[in-house]
Amino acid sequence: MRLRKVKNANEKIAQYPSLAIQNPSNFKGKWRELFGNEYPIHIEIGMGKGKFLLEKAIKEANVNFIGIEKFDSVMIRAVEKIAPYELPNVKLLNIDALILQEIFNNNEVDKIYLNFSDPWPKSRQEKRRLTSNTFLPIFQAILTDCGDIEFKTDNQKLFEYSVMNINKNNMEILDFSLHLHQRDESIITTEYEDRFSKLGQPIFYIKIKFRGEKL
Ligand SMILES: C[S@@+](CC[C@H](N)C(=O)[O-])C[C@H]1O[C@@H](n2cnc3c(N)ncnc32)[C@H](O)[C@@H]1O
Repeated sequence: MRLRKVKNANEKIAQYPSLAIQNPSNFKGKWRELFGNEYPIHIEIGMGKGKFLLEKAIKEANVNFIGIEKFDSVMIRAVEKIAPYELPNVKLLNIDALILQEIFNNNEVDKIYLNFSDPWPKSRQEKRRLTSNTFLPIFQAILTDCGDIEFKTDNQKLFEYSVMNINKNNMEILDFSLHLHQRDESIITTEYEDRFSKLGQPIFYIKIKFRGEKL
């Protein structure tokens, strides 16, 4: 995502404490208490400006959504977009996915969305990819045994890398498409997805889950 620095983004985010949670590690193991219900918890990592999360939360009122974004200048865009809706089932966290285990207990999350994750194309950048071995064990720990990951990208190389790494990590492929928009017409899209699909680019999609014992 092209990053336009927003002045005082952090201070602006702090003006929305009920949506943008300030000390998220305080809620480790207690997210359902915070939401005040027992609904499943779905998180989107790298939510960008929040379109996908907002539309999902409106459509699926019986799911608790938590959006995660590491840059405050991007996060504030999502906060300002989502806040006016006053949705009871959305929280946003301005954190790096690297610290997810400080934020969620093992088995606390039911689904992870990875939408148009940064491709980090150079091999020395591999460990920053969200489908690399840096992140998959973290995701496995916080997901329930039945929990799954849905991944969408326009980037064929990142998709191929991810499929290869998924195979190495004893994961099961539940669904996939090499041209998601040709298959499904009523999907909820992200900002990036709209941009790429307008150009006629195929959107690659895969839904996966971990098999067997936790690592
Ligand atoms: C290419 S953008 C896609 C944004 C949005 N998902 C979309 O499809 O429009 C990727 C986003 O992921 C965020 N991101 C990348 N690595 C992250 C990490 N480790 N933790 C949290 N956010 C991350 C970036 O800051 C960026 O906003």
